[in-house]
Amino acid sequence: MDWFEKCSQAAEYLRKRLSSVPRVAVVLGSGLGFLESQVEGPTTIEYVDIPGFAVSTVPGHSGRLVVGTLSGTPVMLFCGRVHLYEGHPPQVVTMQVRTAGLLGVKAVLLTNAAGGLDPLWTPGEIMLITDHINLQGVNVLCGPQEPRFGERFVDLTDAYDAELRTLVRRHARQAGFSLREGVYLGLLGPSYETRAEIRMFRQWGVDAVGMSTVQEAIAARQLGMKVLGFSVVTNLAAGVSAGKLSHDEVKETAGRVQKRFSQLLAASVGIVDQAVRTR
Ligand code: HPA
Repeated sequence: MDWFEKCSQAAEYLRKRLSSVPRVAVVLGSGLGFLESQVEGPTTIEYVDIPGFAVSTVPGHSGRLVVGTLSGTPVMLFCGRVHLYEGHPPQVVTMQVRTAGLLGVKAVLLTNAAGGLDPLWTPGEIMLITDHINLQGVNVLCGPQEPRFGERFVDLTDAYDAELRTLVRRHARQAGFSLREGVYLGLLGPSYETRAEIRMFRQWGVDAVGMSTVQEAIAARQLGMKVLGFSVVTNLAAGVSAGKLSHDEVKETAGRVQKRFSQLLAASVGIVDQAVRTR
């Protein structure tokens, strides 16, 4: 079975289990599962039950899909993702987003935990992703061309939808929500970066580093879905602050900001739903 057929099979399974398909999907990163408890009228489907879906082995990542409404807006919430560093190929890492796209979901909000490169930032801040650099050493579009997913040579100019970013920025400003913006660098991991790497990335204009998101953004753009990305800056990157990095710190900070972050995400889901509906 090829990757398109695998995603189609997962989509068919979900279509049977869901009474309707939301316009907006969210992928929740490390330690960011809080939003799940905010979903009203939830239908919960474990990843293990979805054909072809992989389950994360990383503490802080659950593995289920929750479909319901957030402050009245229908949403498809992927709680937990899998990563390249767990040994999965990019086609498995992107199955959630591709399956959502095949179901007819119009926009996806990708979230992650990330290390911040600006010494003036504080752990717990949230960054709206303006653009990415893919340094994971792979691209999900490599391999046999699959026109049913879309073009081979996908345009990534404004991969993170400029209009949606403007709307979210405006909301944050009006709500008094402090929101950083910047470039996310996707790395393979799972080791954190060296001081020398972080020094180099700062010169490149990187604002935050992480180990996810970029393959999903590429796959979503190939399918024509709108993309927004949010990083929770869980720590300052290696050498930017004095301390050492640990996954416990990442989870702890993510846990601390969940409530605030969830408010922004819930509002963003509403904003994005409205925007894709009127198009
Ligand atoms: N580097 C890479 N990935 C991360 C980090 C980091 O500092 N923090 C959370 N995810």
